Amino acid sequence: MAILSLRDVSVTYRSSGKEVHAINNISLDVEENESLGIVGESGSGKTTLIMAVLRLLNTKTTDVTGEALLKGEDIFQMTPERLSEIRWTEMAIVFQKALNALSPVHTVGRFIGDIYRVHKPEATKEEIRSVVEETFELVNLPKRIFKLYPHELSGGMLQRVSIAMSLILDPSLLIMDEATTALDVVTQNQILEEIKRLEEQKGITRIMITHDMSVVASSCKKVAVLYAGSLMESGPTEKVLVEPIHPYTQGLVESFPTFKTDTHEPLKSIPGSLPDLANLPAGCVFAPRCPKASDICFNSKPEMKDYPGNRKAACFFAGGSNNE
Ligand SMILES: Nc1ncnc2c1ncn2[C@@H]1O[C@H](COP(=O)(O)OP(=O)(O)O)[C@@H](O)[C@H]1O
Ligand code: SF4
Ligand SMILES: [Mg+2]
Repeated sequence: MAILSLRDVSVTYRSSGKEVHAINNISLDVEENESLGIVGESGSGKTTLIMAVLRLLNTKTTDVTGEALLKGEDIFQMTPERLSEIRWTEMAIVFQKALNALSPVHTVGRFIGDIYRVHKPEATKEEIRSVVEETFELVNLPKRIFKLYPHELSGGMLQRVSIAMSLILDPSLLIMDEATTALDVVTQNQILEEIKRLEEQKGITRIMITHDMSVVASSCKKVAVLYAGSLMESGPTEKVLVEPIHPYTQGLVESFPTFKTDTHEPLKSIPGSLPDLANLPAGCVFAPRCPKASDICFNSKPEMKDYPGNRKAACFFAGGSNNE
């Protein structure tokens, strides 16, 4: 069963007289216990999509349409009370460097304990302390850090505290937005391994938002590729990253060293840049940069279509054939 279903989700920022179409008609299912990577270059709309799902965007300057069904219940229609009930308990988020903004005057134990207390007001001090310590253990943090202040912790430890914080109320859905990006590769790999183990142990479903394909390759069962606010391709990670059927994914994979078999070949990068989101192309958003673009691509938008092997792609020529 899908734990989260996005149906035709669009997000438009209204700023200085312009309408920035950051997310356009995205539909996506996140199945229970199937970690999903959402990958895309900087500015492709990854954070916008997740902030919309979490209802954290400024409603005065942003229009969000469509549906975001969490276990069948539309997040976009939830009352503020219902929203605060499900935040942390059903759906939790870890941001990049989230704890840099932590108050320097509280210990990390106190900070995490407070989140628990808000949702479980009847909990005793001892219970809170033991739950926090158990959660620290899950993410390989020593109990002694309960009494430490944020400035006394390394970047890796702070990010682990951030993950502990997201796990404290046993959410079913964990969203990580570039959560390991700022860390060195060794710490990043350790944390990814821990997260995978935790998921199996606790039955958590994870959405991993990243620009780094190696993070998706090593930690996600499925992947969805985002470009200029539109989905290009999705499917099982080992298929999509090895034999991409969409020209944009093909370009991404070509430009990423880890996925090249012949490392002596020079890296290719995709020529051009993201389109202006205030003035999107009439047809396929990738057409201005696509080596396979033909007339139809500049005039019509390709729909997301199903392909064998549980794959989807939005391209008139996905996999090399004209499917119009
Ligand atoms: N508050 C905002 N107002 C106007 N445009 C914004 C705002 N926030 C983000 N954007 C624009 O939306 C696009 C997507 O940004 P973002 O979701 O942060 O992408 P990503 O996380 O993939 O790097 C970018 O072009 C960005 O400039
Ligand atoms: S629809 Fe056309 S422009 Fe878009 S990715 Fe496919 S071939 Fe390229
Ligand atoms: Mg981002």
